[in-house]
Amino acid sequence: MPYQTLLTELADNIFTITINRPDKLNALNKIVIEELSEAINEIYTNTEIKSAILTGSGAKAFVAGADISEFLTLDSKGGKALAQKGQENVFDKIENSPKPIIAAVNGFALGGGCELAMACHFRLASDNAKFGQPEVNLGLIPGYGGTQRLTQLIGKGKAMELILTGNMIDANEAFRLGLVNHVTTPVNLLAETKKILQTISSKAPLAIAEAISLINHAAYGNENGLQKEIESFGKLFDTSDAKEGATAFLEKRKASFTGK
Ligand code: COA
Repeated sequence: MPYQTLLTELADNIFTITINRPDKLNALNKIVIEELSEAINEIYTNTEIKSAILTGSGAKAFVAGADISEFLTLDSKGGKALAQKGQENVFDKIENSPKPIIAAVNGFALGGGCELAMACHFRLASDNAKFGQPEVNLGLIPGYGGTQRLTQLIGKGKAMELILTGNMIDANEAFRLGLVNHVTTPVNLLAETKKILQTISSKAPLAIAEAISLINHAAYGNENGLQKEIESFGKLFDTSDAKEGATAFLEKRKASFTGK
């Protein structure tokens, strides 16, 4: 489907979403949030899509945050609605997607941009990427999940420092802290991300979906994670893919999974 602020491409079962407002460093305005929500729905519903990449257009930015020009007219009610709608329709939907969504961070990932990357299942960055939560410079705090997901990913002390100072860190520091899994050159960023997704796409989709759900459960410190794992593990034995996986191993051939 054509979008005003996004470019999308489906190739090799990988759906690439590129946020395309390079003159505004891909800042998340109302339309971007609405269109991201629709594009994520496509990931959920289109059976051709096995996984997705989220990236930014241009050489400079992944996403430089929420669009600050839309902030001046907001009051407490409007601010709360902005955060709530964004979290429900985009950030949480990315995190809870049964298909992997990976961020390819190609430049500034600030504020909502850092939060968007953190909502993804994991992140690769180009060596020119910069991460930060600069909302305190605007008299605000992160509103798209940053206080929670940054703390999960890098721990309380470092999350405190980044959010309270508003300082930026570079890609190597983000790698050292565990915020990104791999750092590469800008030229290789999408190819490396696709390579990882091709590996994941060759596995059983229902197993991938269960694993995502359980890891998310653990990340929020929810109780009964081990019991949930037992239930999911058992449930997967009723799938054709689990039969196919074991059979293929015993027959010394590559498994061919159908998602059933
Ligand atoms: N919202 C709206 N517009 C933004 C934006 C944002 N978050 N980030 C960048 N832009 C716009 C700039 O206003 C500028 O637009 P203009 O050319 O019409 O004036 C354009 O994008 C280019 O940005 P500019 O600031 O000129 O680039 P730079 O290289 O000098 O600085 C940044 C880059 C990322 C350091 C700087 O743009 C910045 O600090 N952005 C805001 C980051 C932020 O606070 N994000 C959290 C928001 S909650």
